[in-house]
Amino acid sequence: MKCRVCSGRIVIELRQHNAAFCAEHFMAFCRRQVERAIDKFSMFEPGDRVLVAVSGGKDSLALWDILVELGYAADGLVIGLGIDDYSEQSTAFARDFADQRGLTLHYHSLQDEHGFTVPSAAEATKRVPCSSCGLSKRHIFDSVALDHGYDVVVTGHNLDDEAAVLFGNVSRWQRDYLARQHPVLPAANGFPRKAKPLVRLGEREMAAYCVLNNIDYVVDECPMAAGNKHLEYKDLLNTMEVASPGAKHAFYFGFLDRAAELFSAAVEAKSGRPDENISPCVVCGSPSTNEVCSFCKLVELASRPVPVEIDTRRDMLDG
Ligand code: AMP
Ligand code: FES
Ligand code: ZN
Ligand code: ZN
Repeated sequence: MKCRVCSGRIVIELRQHNAAFCAEHFMAFCRRQVERAIDKFSMFEPGDRVLVAVSGGKDSLALWDILVELGYAADGLVIGLGIDDYSEQSTAFARDFADQRGLTLHYHSLQDEHGFTVPSAAEATKRVPCSSCGLSKRHIFDSVALDHGYDVVVTGHNLDDEAAVLFGNVSRWQRDYLARQHPVLPAANGFPRKAKPLVRLGEREMAAYCVLNNIDYVVDECPMAAGNKHLEYKDLLNTMEVASPGAKHAFYFGFLDRAAELFSAAVEAKSGRPDENISPCVVCGSPSTNEVCSFCKLVELASRPVPVEIDTRRDMLDG
């Protein structure tokens, strides 16, 4: 097999596109896919200030690289989640990437700024770590973007991620989630715009992009994600993809083209105007449907000092 563009030696075969590419034309292919997603879903414009949420993993670092290559003004944001070595490594990869290219990277530590970590929040809330992790990330993406005047926050969710989330939502017919599963969410009610420019590219392509561009990234999965259903859905979809190349793309883009609007229409009709009950959180000022937003409630719960057990018998003896 030869490169589809120049007939040179190939570095990757993409069965779902019935194509193979040399290194140079594979990189051009990735940039084109990102541009197509940005245009098709009106994610942002050339003059917009873009904030890339970087985890130190392959997807968000490749995305940041591609956006800079395409000429967008894109800065990064890495959140220190306090998940031991994993978070330290993730932050270090993001910092190295930014330093090597002279890019601006914002750093926001959960422990330093809010007095808790993802593991301590999981303990305090007695819920799976991913739930306080997701809530914290969303809140911090929004607040950093608003504080620094960014027009849009972009994340490195790729086709594999989005197809797996869609599979989970469809398998339980979660209408509210299905209504919101779109690669761009417009700015509304004081929240900045959010976009996922990698939806046309998969995990394998992003790993290849990083290797070919000498981008070092954290390879391990988050240690708190063990047992996460989405990893199982990804395996299922990969099995389908082997049997029928292009299955993931057809599943996800078929939903966007032919079904997504049915769910958003139904949910809006049920709930009335979506922005009806939103007002600033009395603690942090973020838009919220409650007096105190969910993030501030989490801070209140998770940053409480851990109670110290006192041996009262010993106190009595000592006293
Ligand atoms: P995940 O939820 O870990 O699958 O990550 C999805 C996307 O969220 C990544 O591609 C990043 O864009 C963003 N993200 C995840 N972790 C962090 C982090 N610690 N700091 C900033 N952005 C992150
Ligand atoms: Fe959030 Fe693992 S990255 S729980
Ligand atoms: Zn070529
Ligand atoms: Zn708040």
